[in-house]
Parts: sequence; C-alpha cells; structure tokens
Amino acid sequence: MGDFDGTPSFYTSDETFEKYLGQTSYYEALQKNVVELVSHAAPDRIIEMGSGTGQTSVRLAEEMPTTEILGIDNRATVTEVSRNNAKKLGVSNLSFETADMTEYVKTVTSLPEMVVLLYSFHHIPDPLDQKVDFLEDCYTALPEGGHICIAETFLKNDARDTAANRETQIRWANRGVEAFASTFWSALDGIDPAAIEHAQEVGEFSREHELEAGDNVLTRDDEYLISMKWLVDHAQSVGFDVLLAEPVNAVGDGIVLLRK
Ligand SMILES: C[S@@+](CC[C@H](N)C(=O)[O-])C[C@H]1O[C@@H](n2cnc3c(N)ncnc32)[C@H](O)[C@@H]1O
Repeated sequence: MGDFDGTPSFYTSDETFEKYLGQTSYYEALQKNVVELVSHAAPDRIIEMGSGTGQTSVRLAEEMPTTEILGIDNRATVTEVSRNNAKKLGVSNLSFETADMTEYVKTVTSLPEMVVLLYSFHHIPDPLDQKVDFLEDCYTALPEGGHICIAETFLKNDARDTAANRETQIRWANRGVEAFASTFWSALDGIDPAAIEHAQEVGEFSREHELEAGDNVLTRDDEYLISMKWLVDHAQSVGFDVLLAEPVNAVGDGIVLLRK
C-alpha cells in the first residue's frame, strides 16, 4: 500500500502503470505461486524471459539468495527500469539483458536448469508454429532434467469461432471486475472522499486496461493466447514431461511446469 504516485500523474508514467496492474489479485497470485514452485525446485540458475520491469525476477532473487537470476526482455526501456529496481533494493544475484527470447533460445549454447515465463509466452506472435518452435528450441538448449515454468492467462476455448469469442468476452468482463476490485482495495488507504476517489480511479484504470487487453485477445493484436490444453499437448509432442498444469484462479490464469 501507498506505493502509488498521486493521480492523475500515473496515467503518463509507464513505470507506475506497471505498478498499478501489478496490484491485481491475479498477477499477485500468479507471481506468488511461481516463486513458491520455483523455490521447491531450488535451481542454481534461473532465466526469466519477458521479465518486464523485473518484479518477478526480484522476488525470485530475494527468495533464493544463492541462485543466479537473469531476466531478459526485448524492450531496452524496461530492462533499464528493472536494473534500477534491483539496484535500489540491493539485490545482487540478479542481472538483466535486452534480448528477444525467441532469438535467444535459438542462439544460446545452453539454458539454465530453470526457465520462467510469467505473462510473456502469449507475446510470441502468430502463427502458432512460432510458439512450438520456441518450445523446441528450449527443449534443445535445456539440460537433461531442466524445467520451464509457464505462468499465463489461458483461453478456455481456443477455437476461432463465435462460441469461443463469446467465452473470451465473458471471461474478460469478469477479469475487468476483478481488476477493479483488487486494485481498488489495494489502493484504498483512508475513508475520506479523496482517498475513496483515488482508489476508484486506480480501480477504473486497471479495469479499462484489462478490458482493452480482452479486445486485443479477440483480435489477436499482441495478445496471442492459447488454452492450457494446447500448451500441454504441444509441450508433450516436443518431448517435455508435464509435471503440473493447474489453474490459479477462476479468471483463466494458471501454471504449467515442464521438465526435459
Ligand atoms: C506482461 S509483461 C511480463 C511481466 C513480468 N514477467 C512480471 O512478472 O512482472 C510481458 C513482457 O514480455 C516482453 N516481451 C514480449 N515479447 C518478447 C520477446 N520476444 N522477447 C523478450 N521479451 C518479450 C514485453 O516487453 C513485456 O515486458
């Protein structure tokens, strides 16, 4: 709480934008469960692909102080933000690089024993073969027994027809409500009218962005989601063992853990 700049300045700040959406119940639950799951595996080295502003990499580094963590993201602006965040927090077992994960897995000689993706697998653009290629490249570069942990929002039905679109619309209407509710309560730090108005603005900001994301899911505009079944089937066909494939909430988020 209290980690927010005053409104309306946050509408223009990328960093604060990330912070607001980072307060949603679904992001928090996904991150918490990824950190717990990866801690159970106790890897010596981890790479997070699509690390964004570095919030999950920082949490992994804090939880596992003797593990070396590398976060990569293809946007130099956010890797700079993540480096500064890690520096401010004094986390030393963590570094960030600007790199495209699909290129990275093709060119790297070997991957660490744990690869983590949180809300980034769906950014691998259509056609879907590119996601399969990515899984194959990871499989090739992982050591025997190495893992990929993919935390994602999954479609309930990934057909491209009216019924599937309707399900997606309903799901994102629900995600919009959840975005509002969770960030409203997270932002509320008083019961005076200004505090309530501030929390409402925060909730509305998050809701609007979630609804916009839902439209992008429908039009496959930078949000190329798949179903959990699709991921499990294709991971198996690439050769992975599926150790775990479970939902984290009722609005589509879940975690799939694969082992070579
Ligand atoms: C929703 S954010 C991820 C948030 C982050 N994993 C976390 O837990 O806070 C998705 C990130 O994936 C990155 N991304 C998208 N395509 C990528 C690619 N091909 N290679 C690397 N990063 C990519 C985007 O720049 C964005 O920062």
